[in-house]
Amino acid sequence: MANPVWNTLKDLAYGGDYNPEQWPEETWHEDVALMREAGVNLVSVGIFSWANLQYGPNEWHFDWLDRVLDLLHQHDIFVLLATATASPPPWLTKLHPEILPVTAENIRLSPGGRQHYCPSSPYYRAASKTLVEQLAKRYGNHPAVVGWHVGNEYGCHVPRCYCDESAQDFRRWLKLRYRSLEELNQAWSTAFWSQRYQDWDEILPPRVAPTFVNPSQQLDFLRFSSDALLECFKREVEVLRRITPDKPVTTNFMGLFKPLDYFRWAAEEDFVSHDSYPDPADADSPVAAALTFDFMRSARHGQPWLLMEQAPSAVNWRPHNVPKADGQYRLWSYQAIARGANGVMNFQWRASRGGAEKFHSGMVPHAGKDTRIFRNVAQLGRELKHLSDVLDSQLSAEVALVMDWSSWWALELDSHPSSRLSLTDQLLRVYRILWRKNISVDIVEPSSDLSRYKVMVAPNLYLVSQPAAENLARYVEGGGELVMGYFSSVVDEHDVVFPNGAPGPLADILGIRVEEFWPLADGLTVDVHGMNGFRSTADIWSELINLKGAERWAAFASGPLNGHPAITRNLYGHGRAWYVATHLHIDGLDTLLTHILHTVGVNPLLINAPEMVEATVRRGPHSQHLFLLNHSANEAHVQLDSTWRGSSKIVDGRIGDDSVYLSPFGVAVFSKTD
Ligand code: GAL
Repeated sequence: MANPVWNTLKDLAYGGDYNPEQWPEETWHEDVALMREAGVNLVSVGIFSWANLQYGPNEWHFDWLDRVLDLLHQHDIFVLLATATASPPPWLTKLHPEILPVTAENIRLSPGGRQHYCPSSPYYRAASKTLVEQLAKRYGNHPAVVGWHVGNEYGCHVPRCYCDESAQDFRRWLKLRYRSLEELNQAWSTAFWSQRYQDWDEILPPRVAPTFVNPSQQLDFLRFSSDALLECFKREVEVLRRITPDKPVTTNFMGLFKPLDYFRWAAEEDFVSHDSYPDPADADSPVAAALTFDFMRSARHGQPWLLMEQAPSAVNWRPHNVPKADGQYRLWSYQAIARGANGVMNFQWRASRGGAEKFHSGMVPHAGKDTRIFRNVAQLGRELKHLSDVLDSQLSAEVALVMDWSSWWALELDSHPSSRLSLTDQLLRVYRILWRKNISVDIVEPSSDLSRYKVMVAPNLYLVSQPAAENLARYVEGGGELVMGYFSSVVDEHDVVFPNGAPGPLADILGIRVEEFWPLADGLTVDVHGMNGFRSTADIWSELINLKGAERWAAFASGPLNGHPAITRNLYGHGRAWYVATHLHIDGLDTLLTHILHTVGVNPLLINAPEMVEATVRRGPHSQHLFLLNHSANEAHVQLDSTWRGSSKIVDGRIGDDSVYLSPFGVAVFSKTD
């Protein structure tokens, strides 16, 4: 495995996308001077420069990039060099229009934007391979280049292609997954609606049809589409690892991006990187951002990750784009570091004057360096130099949230008991409760190693594979506490309902049987009463449950299922498994989770933390770092527990006897050696 970038930088990474091809050469000299002033040590170069590097099949223009890289190197600025394959040049799509992707409605998309390629296109794959080979050979040993930025935000605009080439590729993929057509017919339940296939060539992508398309076919196409893009990534990585084996590779993720199974993708990278664009106008943004940051850390099992892109202030792509308030750029940058990032990068270095993103903020705005944005950028750059000690520290968590891409895809397909169930809503509800308590959380797959966690919360796991079921059983049997939300363990990996219905292979662990799903009428709220004086309301969803060994911890106290179990608890081996059969009001869910966390000894990090203060600890081999982040526009007062008294302040925060005062949107970082 190649060395992570920060082993070379020896500091947190700081910088952004640098697109010198948009600027005259004089500007490059001003750029490097300003980069030095802003503390920039890393830039991603050339992400959309294919058309500037290659003018035709055999016409290459590297001289400008040679000069850019040399200039950056002379100023001690390192480079994540892009493979530049994210936007095919006009000459290529003119030569091979088959590269252009096709929608489910059979519309072929035109060039003129970006990412206009079919992931299965042999022409696209061959042309990008040639480009990557050229770049790797020419720049693999360039002293400025510390790693590769492969593609860009795969699938962001075109997550799936439905063209004939994709249909062929889908069939190839299906032949590897199913040994025979008979097996596929079985898995896809094609006896239903006369869909039985006699020849592989009859199988198509799930294009627009008169009504609901076969759900198993849709699910496999979603899997295939994630894999088809991953194949593009892997083909580039194969070239890079062959020619420059010591240079790490990454590609920028986009949070919990539904089309791509990022657990599979992260396994192919040397380190994870992520683009984060929370809306400054939404007070809840920090919670969703924190969840995605925790995912990025978890995707490679706690390894440090890189915040590859964020906006220095406003973006241009929402209908209405509010700038970041004073302090928010800094605060949100620290939030990423607090959750395991080893660097903070931006889109982009210098705001473009032309093109579709000319109103997106840049580290150097149109108005130049004497601006609020550049001052904020430079201040953060200076501060981060004091934090190099956090580089080798990591977070640890006793609680994990379970998620699985196949289950997510299947949950949100059409023709279900309710279309109101969204995985990210369910994850966020639980996550918000843990975030407010400053309880550290990992995001894990149901089949991964769960042994280190005291509590696993699976807000929804609609689809459960056999290995996942066995793994969850082992976890509970070994003493784990599993909390499972409604409409879970309903179908197998083909989206086929388990024999005898839910919860299928988890029936013994949960000690229940689900007799009937019971979505609640719009506007209906029901009462739920339980042990220890538990009182909550619930809406949207309920289930008629039979107890098969579990105890009834709470029951519906009104509504159509009055008197029936609503929350159950089952002893299984040395552990316990909970099932929550309804959509509890957030306060009820909070009470339930608080009770469970308390019983197993998972405690909040701070005593009486103010609501919008976020706290995390990163632990290294010899030191620990406490991050305090005030997400409110008011001053906050945080009580420190005794373990942090006497630690040294790295950044900000006014210290009283045993407390810290944080300014509005303020940040404090404390360190102590063990
Ligand atoms: C990202 C993308 C960048 C830029 C940015 C604008 O999605 O990777 O190239 O478009 O958004 O916010």
